[in-house]
Amino acid sequence: MTAVISAEGLSRTYGSTQALVDVDFEVDRGRVYALMGRNGAGKSTLVRMLSGVERPDSGRILLDGDEIEFRDPDHALRSGIATVHQEISVIPGLSVAENVMLGRWESRLGVIDRRRNRALAAEALELLGVELHLDTPAGDLRIAEQQLVEIARALSYRPSVLILDEPTSSLTESEADRLLEVVRRLASRGVAVLYVSHRMSEIERVADDVTVFRDGRVVARHRIEEVTVREIAALMAGAELQERPRRRSAAADRGVALSVSGLRTRTTLRGVDLQVAAGEIVGLAGRIGSGRTEILRAIAGLDAASHGEVELADGTRFGGARDVRRRVAAGIALVPEDRKGQGIVLNQPILHNMVLSCLSSISRWGFVDRHRERRTGAASLEATEIRVGSLSDDVASLSGGNQQKVVLARCVNSGVRVLLLDEPTRGVDIQSKHQIYDLIAGLAHEAARWSLCPRSTTSSCRTATGSSSSTAARSLERSIATPASTHSSRP
Ligand SMILES: Nc1ncnc2c1ncn2[C@@H]1O[C@H](COP(=O)(O)OP(=O)(O)O)[C@@H](O)[C@H]1O
Ligand SMILES: [Mg+2]
Repeated sequence: MTAVISAEGLSRTYGSTQALVDVDFEVDRGRVYALMGRNGAGKSTLVRMLSGVERPDSGRILLDGDEIEFRDPDHALRSGIATVHQEISVIPGLSVAENVMLGRWESRLGVIDRRRNRALAAEALELLGVELHLDTPAGDLRIAEQQLVEIARALSYRPSVLILDEPTSSLTESEADRLLEVVRRLASRGVAVLYVSHRMSEIERVADDVTVFRDGRVVARHRIEEVTVREIAALMAGAELQERPRRRSAAADRGVALSVSGLRTRTTLRGVDLQVAAGEIVGLAGRIGSGRTEILRAIAGLDAASHGEVELADGTRFGGARDVRRRVAAGIALVPEDRKGQGIVLNQPILHNMVLSCLSSISRWGFVDRHRERRTGAASLEATEIRVGSLSDDVASLSGGNQQKVVLARCVNSGVRVLLLDEPTRGVDIQSKHQIYDLIAGLAHEAARWSLCPRSTTSSCRTATGSSSSTAARSLERSIATPASTHSSRP
C-alpha cells in the first residue's frame, strides 16, 4: 500500500534552532499516528510542513507517492490534508457557523447560500457532538469550545489526512473523550490521523503508532502494542528527566498575606473564605463550573463581587468593586488561562514581554534603561530556563510552555505579592511543567522573605487582563499560588 502522505529527510531551522533534522515519516490510511515529544521537540514544525504553512529547508513531501510542494495551507487542504493547529485561531468577530465554513461559503447563482452553509456547519459540529449555537460570535466561546469549532472546521473538509496538534489541551475530559471517539471512527473509515498530544492516557486509547521526537529528530517509532507508557516517557525525556522530590510545604507561621472573606458573586460564589500565608501555595480543585476561575477573577478585581472583602498583608482592603488597576498596583496578579488572548503580547519581543510590568523600575527619567532591561531579561532567562535564539525574537516563536514561563517571569519581575494562576500548565509538556512548578515554588519561597519586611518598591504588575469571557470548563489542574500561606476552602 502506498503511504497517503510521507516525508523524506525533512529539515528546518529557525535562526540557530534546528527545529527539524532529517525527519522521515510515513502515514497510511486508516491509522492514528501519535506524535510525542517534549515542548520544542519539533512536532508542530513537522505539522506546519505537512500542512503547507511553511516549507522545509530540505527534504520532500510525497502525496500518494508523488512529490508535492504545498504552495500554502489552502493547497494542502484542497489536497485532502486538514489541520488543526496548536494555537487557536478562530476569528472572534465571526459566528460559529462562519468560522466552521471560513473561506468557502457556498453560493448559488453568485449569492451566498446561508441555509446551506449553516447546515454544513451544523453537520460538522454534530459529528463532534458539540452543541453550540451557530450564531454565537466565536469570541464569546470558552477556549475549549473555540477549539472544537476549529476541529469541526477541519472535519467539514472530509479530509483524507487529519492533523490535530494538541487538540485536547483545553478540553474537558468528556469533550476529549468524545473527540477520541471521533478520531477512532474517522480512522475506521480510512482517514489517516496525526495526533499530537502530551496525554499518555489518550495515546494508549487512540493511537496505532507512536513516533517520538526529541530535539528535532525522530528518536523512536513503534506500534502502540510494542511500547509502554513508561518507555514513551523515557524516550521523550532522553536522559534528563528524573523523578523530582516532592516540594516541602511552606511554614504556615508567616502571617496571612491574603485574606478573602465572605466573597459572593451574582453567578457562582456563595460566600468564600480563604486565607493564604506568605510563601504558601494553595491549590483550588473543583468540577467545571464550581467557581474556580470565578474566585480568581473576583480576587483580581476583574469581576464584581456582591459581598465580601479581600485583604492583603499590609492592610490594604478591597471590596466588591471591579478595580483591577488598584489591585494590580497593590501586587495582585492573575495569569489567566487564555495566555494568548490575555497574558501575553505575541508580536512583541520576549524581552519586552518580560519587563512589561516593571518598566518603572528599569526606567530613569521616564526612559527605559536598556542596560537594566537587558540585565533583567538575562536574569529571567536563566531563572526560567527558556531556550531562545535571542531575547528580541517575538514571543510567538516560543512553544506554549515557554510562553507561559515568559508570563511568569514578568510577574516575578513586577514584584508580585499575590499570584493567581489559572491552569498554568495547560498544554505544557512534562518537562516544562516541572520547570513551571519550580518557578512557582521559587516565587513562594521568596515571598516568605517579603513577608518579613514591608513592601519597598512601587513597581506594579500590569498583567494584561480584561476579557469578558464568562464561565468555564476547565480541567482539574488549577492552582492559586501566592506569596502567602494557610488553608484552602472549597468554592
Ligand atoms: N517560527 C519559529 N521561529 C523560531 N523558532 C521556532 C519557530 N517555530 C518553532 N521554533 C523552535 O523550533 C523548535 C521546535 O518547536 P516546535 O515544533 O514548536 O516544537 P513542539 O511542537 O514539539 O513543541 C523549538 O526550539 C522552537 O522554539
Ligand atoms: Mg507544538
